[in-house]
Amino acid sequence: MVSEKLSALKDEMLKAVEAASSLADLEAAEIRFLGRKGELTAVLRSLGDLPESERRELGRMANEVKMEGERRIAAARERLSASAASSVADSERVDVTEPGTRPPEGHLHLVTHAIREITAIFERIGFVRTREPEVEWDWYAFESLNMPPDHPARDEWETFFMDAPVHPKWGKMILTPHATSGTARILASEKPPIRAINIAKTYRRQIDVTHVPMFHQFDGVYVDKDVSLAHLIGVLDYFAKEYFGPERRARLRPHHFRFTEPSFEFDISCGVCNGTGLGPDRQKCRTCKRGWLELGGAGMLHPNVLKAAGLDPKKFSGLAFGWGVERSAVMKSGVQLDDLRVLYKNDMRFLGQF
Ligand code: DAH
Repeated sequence: MVSEKLSALKDEMLKAVEAASSLADLEAAEIRFLGRKGELTAVLRSLGDLPESERRELGRMANEVKMEGERRIAAARERLSASAASSVADSERVDVTEPGTRPPEGHLHLVTHAIREITAIFERIGFVRTREPEVEWDWYAFESLNMPPDHPARDEWETFFMDAPVHPKWGKMILTPHATSGTARILASEKPPIRAINIAKTYRRQIDVTHVPMFHQFDGVYVDKDVSLAHLIGVLDYFAKEYFGPERRARLRPHHFRFTEPSFEFDISCGVCNGTGLGPDRQKCRTCKRGWLELGGAGMLHPNVLKAAGLDPKKFSGLAFGWGVERSAVMKSGVQLDDLRVLYKNDMRFLGQF
């Protein structure tokens, strides 16, 4: 009886081992038959109750069944773990010839781009880029630039004043509202011939769709003997062509600045209507309305400015020009920005387009 039970158990056990399709199945079969409370283990234990004569023969049989089971389990384990390993190898295989995933590529901010491009353009005609203080004294930003004490830019509404003691010689400490303060410093510290361009952050108490309180300006200056208005027109026309394209032209319109005489506003011909002011439908050009786009200020340095810098206006003359980097960059990109503030909102959906 016991021997029949043993051979039935053996069949069952071998079937379960062969049927196991995973290491977990196999483990379950092993526990079921050979574990501490397993079915075969129970039979082996019960042998002790049999008479001596039967015990020997059945004991040998039971041991054989047990060993057979262990052998088959070991073989099945080898087979199953090899196939488990090969399926891991399949699912985790790396094809090194496959193209990789491109990491997102960054690029410079469009204002930084514009600063570099403007610098390179002026360097080609001998202007050296300088960096001047952006926290500045009234003397350099206003007083030495021939601005009277009651000039509107000097009052609270446009200029940021620092909470610092007034300097007996240089006056109040401010955040510079225009890059021309850097030009005043260059004039005071260098000897002609001077050809320099200061590009700096500038600050004004204005914020709306066309103004940000921190923006960038560049301010160029050329001082030597016999520098004339012809040079100024030449420099500006060169810039218009280099920065905006070879078909663009520069135009000067009389204006007023305290630190230049004569003073001008500098326009460039509109790239859409090519300076005609007319759209394809013979109506007014929708971009410029009159053929020209206003860009910045320019002029011949006022004698008082040269004097304030210790230069003799009878010996030397100079030209100067300056305007906003953001304005230039936006005009060049051809994008109609209805809110200039997006430039500084760090929104990748906007910045990523440039
Ligand atoms: N600094 C002036 C401004 O911010 C612009 C300007 C006008 C600069 C004439 C110049 C210049 O160098 O000659 O409005």
